[in-house]
This record gives sequence, structure tokens and C-alpha cells, in this order.
Amino acid sequence: KKADNQLLVIFGASGDLTKRKLLPSLFELYVRNLLPEKFRVLGASRTAFTDEEFREEQRKAILDSPEAKPYDPEQVGRFLQLVHYLSFDSTNEAEYGKLKERIEQLQQQNGLDDRIIYYLATPPVMYESVPVSLQKQGLNKPRTREGWRRIIVEKPFGTNLESAERLGEKLRKIFPEENIYRIDHYLGKETVQNILVLRFANGIFEPLWNRNYIDSVEISATETLGVENRGKYYEGAGALRDMIQNHLMQLMAFVAMENPAVFDPEPIRDEIVKVFRAIHRYSPTEIWNDVIRAQYTGRTVGGTALPGYREEKGVAADSTTETYVAMKLFIDNWRWGGVPFYFYTGKRMAEKKSEIVINFKSTPTQMFAGQCSGSSCNKLTIRIQPDEGITLKFGLKMPGAGFTVRQVGMDFRYSSLSSNYLPDAYERLLMDAMLGDSTLYARQDALEASWGFIDPILQAWAKKPDKNLYTYPVLTEGPEERYDLLYHGAGAPGPEIPTGPCKCG
Ligand code: BG6
Repeated sequence: KKADNQLLVIFGASGDLTKRKLLPSLFELYVRNLLPEKFRVLGASRTAFTDEEFREEQRKAILDSPEAKPYDPEQVGRFLQLVHYLSFDSTNEAEYGKLKERIEQLQQQNGLDDRIIYYLATPPVMYESVPVSLQKQGLNKPRTREGWRRIIVEKPFGTNLESAERLGEKLRKIFPEENIYRIDHYLGKETVQNILVLRFANGIFEPLWNRNYIDSVEISATETLGVENRGKYYEGAGALRDMIQNHLMQLMAFVAMENPAVFDPEPIRDEIVKVFRAIHRYSPTEIWNDVIRAQYTGRTVGGTALPGYREEKGVAADSTTETYVAMKLFIDNWRWGGVPFYFYTGKRMAEKKSEIVINFKSTPTQMFAGQCSGSSCNKLTIRIQPDEGITLKFGLKMPGAGFTVRQVGMDFRYSSLSSNYLPDAYERLLMDAMLGDSTLYARQDALEASWGFIDPILQAWAKKPDKNLYTYPVLTEGPEERYDLLYHGAGAPGPEIPTGPCKCG
């Protein structure tokens, strides 16, 4: 389905996000003929580009990006004719008159109706002032009954509960809640959306999907890259705010939520909020027992000296910002009571990998030699990225004499589908915002509920900046101290029990 004709205004358009994600995703939608029949993009930011210069920048970004396919340069050129630019200082209220004129001009020249999406790809300090200035020019309200104004806000939405509440309150005075789209790009990933289908379109998993059959759930997202050129942002964020408060908690919500009465945005988002509200709030002691943090330290790999976090550009030499977090938490409701959820995430680790592992309980008695006990035998792994897919592990009799059990897996890979195109998360999310579907966007109450859980951890850390702060060498699996927390002190080799004869039992 195509969206109605509209204009997309990107604030902060000369920045990295526009080049890396927004324009390449819009181009993919163009190639797939999914953009509205009449559509224009207006990039607005301080750099003094003409339309042509801005297009040239974007052309390079689309054709040279590491994810680029062998695109037809002429097709890229035709797409870029839809893209315009306004050199504009969004901190200066006086300039919004100029923006209004340009918007009206583009609407008239291109036969666009009264529909505009504003995309805030600016630094977060602008998230309040840009909407206020739009409002002063009357740009936040449609001129006609059929028209609309929507606003997409990039993360971070606040840095704690209080600032998230304040930002939400300010935005809702200017745009109605249903027109505010808070991006969490993890929700745009195919594999994340598929969690809902796996659970709610199949009869076999749901009866097992609870505390009676599930031993524990692991949700992780590790990266090999460090903070790159974002040291300044990251210093104020850290892994807890950057990955856990949003991406990992959203993954948990999809795994843990009840089935919505109907597959519509609000019932789905209602169920997400219920999960966040049911998360057990840590006591002060539990914070120190159940949450650990760490920073990567430099080392030489293959003759190259790799810097540690404290040596990165924009990072303080005595920084206590965490680049790794591991934690154990519980959801206090009837489905999940007593089932530990383990989260871990880190930068500059051995592998780039995001996945969810559901560990099922073992059989009540052990009948066979080598049979797995504990949670290690039956596990369902949902690979979010890379090698997107799902694996179910179970024990199998080894051929031959006796009854020796070995763990094997049934594997599904997205790459084996005949139509295996996996759109970038931003393609799906931009498309949904154009269509007015907010299912995959975070709602303010969910945001506040997740901050409500995260805040006490941040406060405890702020009071004792060095406590439970460990280190791990770059490109490794994380700090040693994670064993006690993630593997119950068992010193297991890693969360993934290698396929092979079960070592346990
Ligand atoms: C972003 C974080 O939201 O997600 C980054 O700010 C992180 O620090 C990125 O690298 C990870 O996203 P993905 O899709 O590569 O897992």
C-alpha cells in the first residue's frame, strides 16, 4: 500500500543519519515503488548547500555506502530530483519564516496536499526548541481537515525519567500523541517483528511460553565497533541508556507480552507497557548483585594497537561511562514470575551479534547417558542479526549401541527464503510513519515505564561511580565478572552451549 502524497522535512539533514540511513532507505522505497505518488524531501540544516550540492552529497552516500547494492546511477539521479535543501539555522526562530515559505512553495509546485512529516535528525538538545519554533509559525497544525502534521524523533528521548517526562509533555503540547513517532530502530528489524508472528501465529510455542516450561531468557546485542566518532555523545549515555533502556527492553517486551486483543497499534502498545510496568524494581542491594558494567581497554591485535575506551576521542581519561552491561531481571507477573531474563550488551566485543535465547526447562529425570540437564538442552534461539534466523536445539540419540544423547538443531535462515530481501529497519519505519501506523514506534507511557526501571540503576552508579565497574580487553567476550551473573557462577564458556556431546548431566 502506498501512502498519500506528502512532504518529509528532515532537520539536521547534513548529518550522518541522513546519509547513512534516511536517504538510502528512501531510495530503496523508491526503487520498490513504495513512495507516495507525489512526494518530496526537504533537507534543512546549517551547512550552506544548494539543492544540487546536497543531492551530490547524498548521491555519493547512496552509491558508496558499505551496504549499497549495484544501483543504477541514473535511477539514483531520478530519485534525487525529489530531494531539496534549505540552508537554515534551526536554533534561530527568525529563520522559521523562511522554512514556511519553502514548504509552501514545494507543496504548490509539486501538487502536494497538506501533509508533512518532520524528522528530527538533530542533536537531542534541539528536540524541544524545533517543535516550539514550528508552533510559533503555525507549522505544527494542518491547514485543512484532511491534512496532518507528524513528527519523528530519534533517540535518545531524554536521559532519565524526569527528562523523558518533560520532553514528552512539551511535545504533546505541540503535536497530539498519535502524531509523535519515537523511533527505536530495533522495532523496524524484520527479525524483531517476526517474534510476534512466531508467538502469535503458531500454536506450538505459546503453551510452553511461560514460567512452567521456560527456565531463563537471554537477550543480547554485542558489537565489534567502539564509539567511533560519537565519544562525546556516548560519554553522557553509556551502554545502559544507549542499548538497554530502548533496544533490549523492546526485544524483551515482544518476548514477554500477552497477545493483544487485535493486531492494532494501541492494543499492541498497551501490552508492551504492561510488561515494562511489571518488571521487578531492583532494591539497592539487588542493583549491586544483579547488574555489572565494564569498559573496554586497549590491546594490540595483529600488530595494531587498538585504543581502550578512555583513549577514544571525546572521552575523559578517567571516564566511568560503561561500554558493557550485563544484568539479571525478573518480570513480576503470572506468566514470568521467577524466570530470570539476562541482558548483556557491549561495544568493541568479539562479535557483532544480537539474539534472543529461550532456555527451556529440562526433563524431570535424566534417563540417558550424556543427557543434558538444566536449561542447556532445549533452547530456541532467535537470531536478530546477523545470519538472521531461528534455531531450535534438542537432544538426539547418537546412532549405534546404547542411548547416548547429543544436542542437535533445527535451523531456519532468512537467506533460504526465495524472497529473502530484508529491508533496513529505517525503510519499514519511514514507510509506517508515512502511512500513519505507529505500531512499531515507542509510546510515551512505555518510555516512562522503561526509564522508571532504569533510573535507580543510574542513580546508584552516579553515587558510586567505580563500584561494579570492570574492564575487558577490546574484541573479547566481556569482563570475567560476567560469569557469576550470567552463568550462575558456573564459569560456563559462554551463553551458547556448543553443539556436540552434552557436557552437562
Ligand atoms: C544505536 C546505538 O541505537 O544502535 C548505537 O546508539 C549502536 O550505539 C546501534 O551501535 C546498534 O544498532 P544495530 O542495528 O547495529 O544493532
